[in-house]
Amino acid sequence: MSAPEPERLPPGLVSLADHEALARTRLDANALAYFEGGAGDEHTLGANREAWNEIALYPRILRRLAAGSTRTTLLGRSLAHPILLAPVAFQRLAHADGELACAHAAAAQGAGMVVSTQASISLERIASAIADDPERGPLWFQLYLQHDRGFNRELLARVEAAAYEALVLTVDAPCSGARDRERRAGFSLPPGISAVNLAALPPRPRTGGSGLCGGLMELAPDWDELAWLQQNTRLPILLKGILRPDDARLAADAGVAGLIVSNHGGRVLDTAVATARALPAIAEAIGHRLPLLVDGGIRRGTDVLKAIALGADAVLVGRPAIHGLACAGALGVAHVLRLLRDELEIAMALCGCARIEDITRDVLDRGEGQRRHT
Ligand code: GLV
Repeated sequence: MSAPEPERLPPGLVSLADHEALARTRLDANALAYFEGGAGDEHTLGANREAWNEIALYPRILRRLAAGSTRTTLLGRSLAHPILLAPVAFQRLAHADGELACAHAAAAQGAGMVVSTQASISLERIASAIADDPERGPLWFQLYLQHDRGFNRELLARVEAAAYEALVLTVDAPCSGARDRERRAGFSLPPGISAVNLAALPPRPRTGGSGLCGGLMELAPDWDELAWLQQNTRLPILLKGILRPDDARLAADAGVAGLIVSNHGGRVLDTAVATARALPAIAEAIGHRLPLLVDGGIRRGTDVLKAIALGADAVLVGRPAIHGLACAGALGVAHVLRLLRDELEIAMALCGCARIEDITRDVLDRGEGQRRHT
């Protein structure tokens, strides 16, 4: 099932696209359908990537670049660079070391990591593997609120006891999208891989209604559940899956600690707006009230720079980490992160930005920058 851990990085990997191409030859059909697939006709999956490519840069010349740095701050924490690993479920489908490999790689590269509720390794093991690494980035826990409040309380207690620093509440997936690739491949979790952190979850109660709207949706979380969560944790909460400025304002008013502009990697609602398109209006709506992150289709350092120019404080990458994992375990993921960070530095230098704070809409072309360059 999982690839044996290679001793060394396979030759010829110089970009995230190279990792992706090699990963596609290493993942089996089941894992490939799960990790690579999107919802419906995968328009949003493609649009996420195209939207970054369609934004043109407008570089500044002869600017002082001395003492440049990718260092930034997020939720009061200093970070070596603004790149985090997005939550991705069942990482042992890609490599036997799964989430542990990603955690080690993120720590080695000073990147933050968001561990999925549906991780295939226990949240305690992942946290303790990197707890003592002084250079590691923030460790956050992605939360899918479950139908049982007692279970949710116990899960929150475990997350807090394991010293996770924030919760990332996913709000864009009250149900799964229609994932044709998964259904065609007959996707299923192989023996030995499961959502281990949910092992003690009681069965879902029967609902009165039928079909999705009368059944599952009766248990779907809403704004009241966010309020419940806020009362039941001391951790800061970021909402992941924001695509509209009005929802961003509601979330800010509700007192969340940060927002993640995301369409779940195109895995939930097909034809939902690309994140690069949604980001500017959300950044405008919340001003600098809250940290703002974005994911979806980020594959190049120039994409990271564009995200920051459009108002993000940091970005997350999901599938690229899985590609690195499939290619070479922890080493592969660390390489993916290193490539992205190096490319960000190159893009910053070529756009005349010595520091993250120097990256503004001024480096985007007239349409995207929404100001006249004179
Ligand atoms: C889980 O969040 C998934 O997108 O499969």
